Amino acid sequence: MIKYNSEIIDEVRNSNNIIDIVSQYVILKRSGRNYSGLCPFHREKSPSFYVSPDKQIFHCFGCGEGGDVIGFIRKIENTSFKEAVEMLAERANIVLPVLVDTEKDEKIQKLKDKVYNINEIASEFYQKRLLTPNAKIAQEYVKKRKMDMYTLKTFGIGFAGNFDELYQELKNKQFSDEEILASKLVLKSEKTGKMYDAFRNRLMFTIRDIRDRVIAFGGRALDDSKPKYINSPDTVVYNKGRHLFAMNIAKKSGEKSIMLVEGYMDAISLHQRGVHNVVASLGTAMTEQQGRLLSNFEKIIIGYDSDSAGQGATARSLEILQTLKYDIRILQINGAKDPDEYIVKYGSGQMKKAMENAISLIEFKVKKLKETLNLDNVSDKIKFLNELSKILLKVENDLEKEVYIAKFSEQYNVSKEAIYAQLNKLQYSINQGSKILEKTNAIKRNPSKEKIENNEKDTNRENLIISLLLNNNKENFIKIKNAISINEFKSEKNKKIAEKLYEQFEKGNINNILDLFEDEEIINHITYIMSTDFDITDNEKAIEDILNKFEKEKILNRKSEILKKISSGNISKEELEKLENELKSLIVK
Ligand code: GTP
Ligand code: MN
Repeated sequence: MIKYNSEIIDEVRNSNNIIDIVSQYVILKRSGRNYSGLCPFHREKSPSFYVSPDKQIFHCFGCGEGGDVIGFIRKIENTSFKEAVEMLAERANIVLPVLVDTEKDEKIQKLKDKVYNINEIASEFYQKRLLTPNAKIAQEYVKKRKMDMYTLKTFGIGFAGNFDELYQELKNKQFSDEEILASKLVLKSEKTGKMYDAFRNRLMFTIRDIRDRVIAFGGRALDDSKPKYINSPDTVVYNKGRHLFAMNIAKKSGEKSIMLVEGYMDAISLHQRGVHNVVASLGTAMTEQQGRLLSNFEKIIIGYDSDSAGQGATARSLEILQTLKYDIRILQINGAKDPDEYIVKYGSGQMKKAMENAISLIEFKVKKLKETLNLDNVSDKIKFLNELSKILLKVENDLEKEVYIAKFSEQYNVSKEAIYAQLNKLQYSINQGSKILEKTNAIKRNPSKEKIENNEKDTNRENLIISLLLNNNKENFIKIKNAISINEFKSEKNKKIAEKLYEQFEKGNINNILDLFEDEEIINHITYIMSTDFDITDNEKAIEDILNKFEKEKILNRKSEILKKISSGNISKEELEKLENELKSLIVK
């Protein structure tokens, strides 16, 4: 693997104050020496996410995530270490050295450039091919779907002909077989060794990334033959789960909301008719990376097909988008199976209206619930009220809850009073339930309470020792090392940390502690310790105290071990004598 050297990484780290960087994603408030805010890595209502300007680290006491400024960017932008360094360098106007350490990286970069180039040429080739006389069926299909010139040009729509037409074109342009095969637009027959085009006799859609580079293609059958679509597989320049079709255009729409649709044709059809805040997820399950691409919009509308596959996809995408904390709406269209059909039938004005009226998650859930029930039937009505109140219970804002109740009461013809009564009943039984749970927990807790507290004490003491080591002071280290051996650390994480720190201190001083570790769990644990206030005023005294306590604990443990052995009765006389002598020598100061 190819890496920037540690000096340049330090420079990047030092030029990006963690407070400034985190503030771009999280609203931070000063709290003592630190800053706190709502954690961006998990859902929470009160802040447990802390950033320390002194230590230049962040840590969330809720979900345990932590790290330095580079770690923060890696996590929030979902990038590699290298990419995070590059982003931060750019922000600080630091020019990074070009990484050409290994031949392999250089080679891959060159191959990528070639494949982008091949893709661009292929897109143009397919588009020209669509206009040739023997592309009649494709031209007729384009007419049938009412695609205009704007659409053909904007979405690079073309036609893939027969045999090895594209291969020949690329050969003429001097690309090597290796480069051509890397684009995966041409395949090699295993039997004959002959090269042939991967897309044949299909209408071609050009897929561009957010920076307008051609990265892949989708090819639609021109009749009912299967498969309806063939899409490019992943290549050196394409990773399906990382892109959204038409994002390169939608990002310029200037709209606050964006609609996510399933198909190429849905996106294309809406763009052609002047609705530009639309992207397609292309039939695959929505990924988190795709979700993050939507973060510049205030509202996300899901406009999937109304068939069951589309509804299933809606549910899955909702899950991902919800974890990203977006304001989500769900498009409701009647009289059409998908947005394409709808806009063709009813026009762009109606489409825009439908997008404005897209319903919230709560309304969507209630609507789904209602679909399975007949409210004229008494038992169904009771069931409806029951489930409805479960959904409403999760609405935290009282005003919002009231508005929903009024709305649902009217929409589904159930009285407001009935809804309120059911809600109260539910709330009451939940309260009762938690009381019972508390009791049983209390009973369960009692026998082992002491043990838990002891473990906690041990862990806290260990954490404090690690925190003293993390102060990065050689004298501390020597004292601690003389008193505590690695194997005496009980927590596996602390053991690993101590081991590494002991080893590094032997070599000299440590530059950046977090850089010593790769395991995320360990890094999170270190930032946890760094962010925990152990209330130390006098460093030396703290070490002395803690080491004394540690020593005492050791003696006490040994004592009880000996007593246990003696009382078991199952030892020789000699051994008994030896143990009794040892016991006498064990004196707790
Ligand atoms: P039309 O049927 O022409 O309106 O196309 P569409 O884009 O609306 O397609 P549809 O709603 O049927 O499917 C949504 C998306 O799923 C498509 O745009 C494709 O990306 C993908 N898809 C559909 N069918 C297939 C298939 O057979 N194979 C693969 N790999 N993907 C498909
Ligand atoms: Mn369609």
